[in-house]
Amino acid sequence: MRKICVIGVGYVGLVTGTCFSDLGNRVTALDINEERIANLRKGILPIYEPGLEEMVKRNVSAGRLSFTTDYDEALEGAEIAFIAVGTPEGVDGEADLKYVRSAAEKIAQHMKEPVIIVNKSTVPVGTGDWVSDIITSSQSKPVSFSVVSCPEFLREGSAIVDFMNPARIVLGSLDKDAAHKVADLHLSLRAPIVVTDLRTAEMIKYASNAFLATKISFINEIANICEALGADVKEVAAGMGYDPRIGRGFLDAGLGYGGSCFPKDVKALAYMATVQGKHPQLLQAVMEINKYQRKQILIKLREMLGGSLKGKTVGLLGLAFKPNTDDMREAPSVEIARAIMTEGGIVKAYDPVAMEHAAHYAPGVQMGSDAYEVATGADALVLITEWNEFKQLDLSRLKSVMKNPVMVDGRNLYDPAVMKNYGFIYRGMGRGYNGR
Ligand code: NAD
Ligand code: UGA
Repeated sequence: MRKICVIGVGYVGLVTGTCFSDLGNRVTALDINEERIANLRKGILPIYEPGLEEMVKRNVSAGRLSFTTDYDEALEGAEIAFIAVGTPEGVDGEADLKYVRSAAEKIAQHMKEPVIIVNKSTVPVGTGDWVSDIITSSQSKPVSFSVVSCPEFLREGSAIVDFMNPARIVLGSLDKDAAHKVADLHLSLRAPIVVTDLRTAEMIKYASNAFLATKISFINEIANICEALGADVKEVAAGMGYDPRIGRGFLDAGLGYGGSCFPKDVKALAYMATVQGKHPQLLQAVMEINKYQRKQILIKLREMLGGSLKGKTVGLLGLAFKPNTDDMREAPSVEIARAIMTEGGIVKAYDPVAMEHAAHYAPGVQMGSDAYEVATGADALVLITEWNEFKQLDLSRLKSVMKNPVMVDGRNLYDPAVMKNYGFIYRGMGRGYNGR
């Protein structure tokens, strides 16, 4: 059992704090957002994440997990303080470090005993050293501390499973004792632990996200070529994936990557490279291909609806950037909905959990209560998010309520031959002559 605190109670901070408390530690989680903390104290979570609500309640009841806005309370007796605040995109594509700066200053002002400061936020290479300088210069009297980088690799929608079963733990620090203390905290997760220097650890995070984004853009480019040549990208990805040097993961062609991380992290890495006088050509191409994938939905809709979307009703199945989350940050649905409305179309949509957030991101979209309501009277449907509940829809019923049985499958969820049999005019992403 260790006493730890987590600064920033968003997707990463809440999952990290809750999972460490579930492993038997005493965790205080702090956020500057008072409403968020007041709600958490009442058992109301700020995010949807499978299994999290139950785990929070269990650990709060057991007295292992508490929430506060008070830095003195959070840091009291804490051996380790995790920073898990947001690092959003800045004006030029750089990571904006204002929240990291304010968290570091507050820790410095309130720490009374030595503490290991572990950075979990995704931060530009060199930030660990910068945080050290901020803490040293913001302390009113010197108290010893160490900075360790411990980037987080969890995915939204499977955050608890990912946190509890990591592929690896990366720890970077000049202070090897501190790194080993943080390693001890992770021992029960039975993952390989990579101990390295601060900058290398920070780079491992960006390189990992950029590589995954590259795989996605690569398969999307292949999908576009498949579409032109009459091959099926789903089968191409399956055939490629058997080679262990390639692997099947992150080879699902579709609308491209969205979410709060890949878009901003690829941009931030390209920015870091450019500032150093390098030319990140591959990263630029990854971003360009990703943008084009969203535009393709509009191109397909226009082609299938006689050239114009004016006055046409398009139903969106799913709004979140991926299933099992209500996160709407950089969700392809937002750009697609806006573009349809700009062209004079009407957009209806249904998502199992993201509609409340989506109303803020995509004003003007009419929300429905299920897939069938959204399909009713629609000129076309677009499958945006591959939620489980869309996998086995009653296709006869869906078709029967539509004005036009047009379906653009942005995630290749359906079988082109089955859709054709049900009478849909169907197009996926890179699916050969029958399901283009
Ligand atoms: P988030 O926006 O969901 O949460 C950040 C929280 O930090 C907010 O609740 C905010 O109020 C709080 N905060 C801001 N400044 C603060 C301060 N000075 N003191 C205390 N709290 C403060 O962010 P997130 O999605 O959890 O991401 C956090 C970091 O983790 C980012 O760097 C992100 O790139 C990285 N990351 C995210 C994921 C993910 O799946 N979301 C996965 C891996 C890494
Ligand atoms: C991603 C990484 O997978 C995590 O390891 C990392 O910790 C996190 O970013 C982060 O740094 O925040 P996340 O964004 O939650 O996690 O979700 P992913 O499952 O990676 O999906 C990201 C986007 O890529 C989604 O829009 C998804 O639809 C898209 N994607 C994913 C594809 O288009 N094709 C694929 O084959 C896989």
